[in-house]
Amino acid sequence: MSSPQRYAAVVVGAGPAGLAVVGNLLERQIGGRIAWVDPSFQAGRINKKYREVPSNTKVSLFQAYAKAVQPFRTVIDTTPKPNAFTTMTKLDPDQGCSLHYAADLCKMLTEGITKRDDVYACCGVVTKADLAENQSQWTIYIKSYETLSEVQVLAPRLILCTGSSPTFVPIPVPGLSIQKLDLDVVLKPTELFGALPADSPQTVAVIGASHSAILALMNLVNLARSSHPKLQIKWFTRHALRYAEYKDGWILRDNTGLKGLAAAWAREQLEDNRLPQSEAGRFIEKIDCSGGRETAQYQAHLPSCTHIVQAVGFTRDPLPALSRAGRPLEPQFNHQTGGFCDQDGQVIKGLYGAGIAFPERVVDPYKNVSLNVGLWKFMSFLKRVCPSWVSA
Ligand SMILES: Cc1cc2nc3c(=O)[nH]c(=O)nc-3n(C[C@H](O)[C@H](O)[C@H](O)COP(=O)(O)OP(=O)(O)OC[C@H]3O[C@@H](n4cnc5c(N)ncnc54)[C@H](O)[C@@H]3O)c2cc1C
Ligand SMILES: NC(=O)c1ccc[n+]([C@@H]2O[C@H](COP(=O)([O-])OP(=O)(O)OC[C@H]3O[C@@H](n4cnc5c(N)ncnc54)[C@H](OP(=O)(O)O)[C@@H]3O)[C@@H](O)[C@H]2O)c1
Repeated sequence: MSSPQRYAAVVVGAGPAGLAVVGNLLERQIGGRIAWVDPSFQAGRINKKYREVPSNTKVSLFQAYAKAVQPFRTVIDTTPKPNAFTTMTKLDPDQGCSLHYAADLCKMLTEGITKRDDVYACCGVVTKADLAENQSQWTIYIKSYETLSEVQVLAPRLILCTGSSPTFVPIPVPGLSIQKLDLDVVLKPTELFGALPADSPQTVAVIGASHSAILALMNLVNLARSSHPKLQIKWFTRHALRYAEYKDGWILRDNTGLKGLAAAWAREQLEDNRLPQSEAGRFIEKIDCSGGRETAQYQAHLPSCTHIVQAVGFTRDPLPALSRAGRPLEPQFNHQTGGFCDQDGQVIKGLYGAGIAFPERVVDPYKNVSLNVGLWKFMSFLKRVCPSWVSA
């Protein structure tokens, strides 16, 4: 067997975060080739799952992401026109857009980056990685989809951009018989259409009140008022609707408040003074779960529902098995540096993370703490932390 190839870094995941990491490392001339691993190199979940979701960020921020590093600008300049970037320049930069525009842009940048000689794009998954004792060398094990074999590579840096999936929480109603609707399906109207019977009465429970929940309600209402007239919705929410507020130079509730189309629709249709008269109110019954009433409300109302969709946030996808000299590591993410510590609080050499699974923690002028999730936010974070990753 040939000896493992050496790389300057291995980047795991080719969603928008992995792409931004590779762009930043290339711009900083990391001093060697980069191995980039993903099952498909198709821009991650934004393309696979959320093409039909309206963005909650402005077009200008997708453009800023695409122009933030020289390797991306080179791809933009060398890709035949019209292309996903030129298409985006025709949209209003101050408005949101359908996420398929952002997905296509990421796919175009990915295609250009993977053609470079200093990038080894490996179709597959990283299954495990071991850090040599007292050294900055990772041995990374990749299940290659091209050779259908295990490939081992060596690198001083391992960067996890492995993404997150919708969270499921246990529902405290013993013996409940209810069909689960995947949030990803509910966020994709073309798939949702076929996921619910159109000709018999159905009641869908929607849990949550943030962006995903509002879009789930919107998509279900759109079905109820068109193809699925017998559809009813019970909306379980434990807090009032929260909106982003544009202040002088910053945004209050930037990461937690509703924005864009979801905010406009919620204001118009779902607020307590609107719901009784709004079109959405013809199909939605709001179940107030505030003040610790969740369990009681679930027990009272869920048995009459046929389906349930949970829109209660996102949870990190499983990581490759990580170890140091064969001993398992339980990495704790440092939201400031993008690095990790082990279970004893010691820095794990050469291990970094970014993206929805490993976001930056930010504090606003009112001292609210939140996690920075979004394409431009990933890019800004990486521009700040990548120099230290490269020099370490
Ligand atoms: C519904 C929704 C709407 C959003 N809307 C916006 C928006 O409007 N604007 C905005 O800026 N942001 C938005 N975001 C936030 C963010 O941009 C997306 O969540 C984005 O997809 C996160 O990118 P990522 O690269 O971190 O993860 P992902 O897109 O999940 O990509 C992770 C990649 O890693 C791969 N992977 C995982 N494990 C391994 C492994 N072991 N080996 C190899 N590959 C692996 C996966 O297959 C995948 O391709 C939205 C998020 C959600 C959930
Ligand atoms: N483009 C878009 O419009 C769009 C659409 C969807 C998502 N996104 C992005 O994707 C990321 C995730 O957004 P998200 O809306 O899925 O989730 P989120 O912002 O993480 O919010 C999770 C919500 O679920 C509630 N919740 C958590 N546990 C709950 C429980 N057990 N029961 C009831 N409610 C519970 C939380 O309420 P508490 O505050 O009370 O805990 C919160 O409102 C964000 O970055 C968002 O911007 C964007």
